[in-house]
Amino acid sequence: MTQEPVGMQVSEQRHWDRLMQMARLGAIPGDGVNRAALTDLDHQARRLLLSWALPLGLAPSVDALGNLFLRHEGTDPSLPAILTGSHMDSQPKGGRFDGIWGVLAALEAVQAIREAGLTTKRSIEIVAWTNEEGGRFAPGCMGSMAFSGFRPPETWDEVQDRDGMRFGEELARLLAAEADIPRRPLGFTPFAYVEPHIEQGPLLEAEGLDIGVVTGIQGSRWFVVEIAGKTDHAGTAPLSLRQDAVQDMVRAIAALNALTADPEDVLRFTVGRVEVFPNSSNTVADLARFSIDLRHPDAAVLTARGDAVAATVEAAMTKCRATVTETFHALPARFDPMVQDAIEAASRELGLKPKRMPSGAFHDAQFLVPLCPTGMIFIPSRGGISHHPAEYSSPAQVAQGAAVLARVLRRLADS
Ligand code: GLV
Ligand code: MN
Ligand code: MN
Ligand code: MN
Repeated sequence: MTQEPVGMQVSEQRHWDRLMQMARLGAIPGDGVNRAALTDLDHQARRLLLSWALPLGLAPSVDALGNLFLRHEGTDPSLPAILTGSHMDSQPKGGRFDGIWGVLAALEAVQAIREAGLTTKRSIEIVAWTNEEGGRFAPGCMGSMAFSGFRPPETWDEVQDRDGMRFGEELARLLAAEADIPRRPLGFTPFAYVEPHIEQGPLLEAEGLDIGVVTGIQGSRWFVVEIAGKTDHAGTAPLSLRQDAVQDMVRAIAALNALTADPEDVLRFTVGRVEVFPNSSNTVADLARFSIDLRHPDAAVLTARGDAVAATVEAAMTKCRATVTETFHALPARFDPMVQDAIEAASRELGLKPKRMPSGAFHDAQFLVPLCPTGMIFIPSRGGISHHPAEYSSPAQVAQGAAVLARVLRRLADS
């Protein structure tokens, strides 16, 4: 048990048990989780969350993007609510904590407040955002982007997963399965948003610290590149006559490596997804498609390098045609000093050691920044490992994060 001087008590055992129960939905070898957005497993995870939240008296609702809310009513329900939570979907080879910890920490924090018999002036809404990871339907953060008005909700209806399922269809299937949950309009202006998340990096552990007070998030741009060539026979077609999409893709990626080279090692450039068609050993490919994930904390650098991507790819083509589509563009985000101060103060009151730090990963929180004071709470990740089955934070660490959140929520909800 993590003891709170004000009587709030986070249950380490209950919190950990819930995390481990959730991890069974989509369990993969090596303690990992594969629970992609809008799959049956995602539906089941949401039902499991409801099975814990409803007996507590939290009121559920769902919006047009499938963002799921659980409301703790304040003594003045007319005031803007505090919003807190994260996402429940995972990477295809993900861990047991990325995303889901933030949702369950929010539940644990609100449960601690209610079990202590405390009331709050403002309401607190727990949120589980739809499709943060973007592993099945790219890009990520669709739920929070639509909620904040950053993109219209129908933006991604035609996006397909690897099996040709459309995002719009899968979203409709979720909403039909949850027809018993009250629908709410998309978007509102919270009083503040606080997202708990695992660090996904090595700094807190390496420095022996407990809590990351997140100062902001670096910017990201995602692109999809399609290179169109012509199929041919691998044994008979002379190289000089081919339009080989794979060969031009390799040139394009080499040119992009040069474009994104950074002696300071701050810029992040990733080609994480490559598809080749028809994907046959003895056929020259007529289509190659790959993803680009580009990140930098400085908006000027991100803009300059990102704006050069299309021309760099085109210049690398010898025989094929390239199309470059930008699917995601999030500027660097800066979190609110008031929320940062509240997180730091709560950590110190609990005897925990906080550190102010930026986030290299993107999060739903960056789309809340234009709406309301926003912040994030990090807890250590063992070995800095994330987007990997070995992702781990200890029972004590997750409970400490939830205890910090409970204090922050109380403070904000009474202000
Ligand atoms: C989110 O998972 C990210 O890629 O930062
Ligand atoms: Mn995450
Ligand atoms: Mn993730
Ligand atoms: Mn993420």
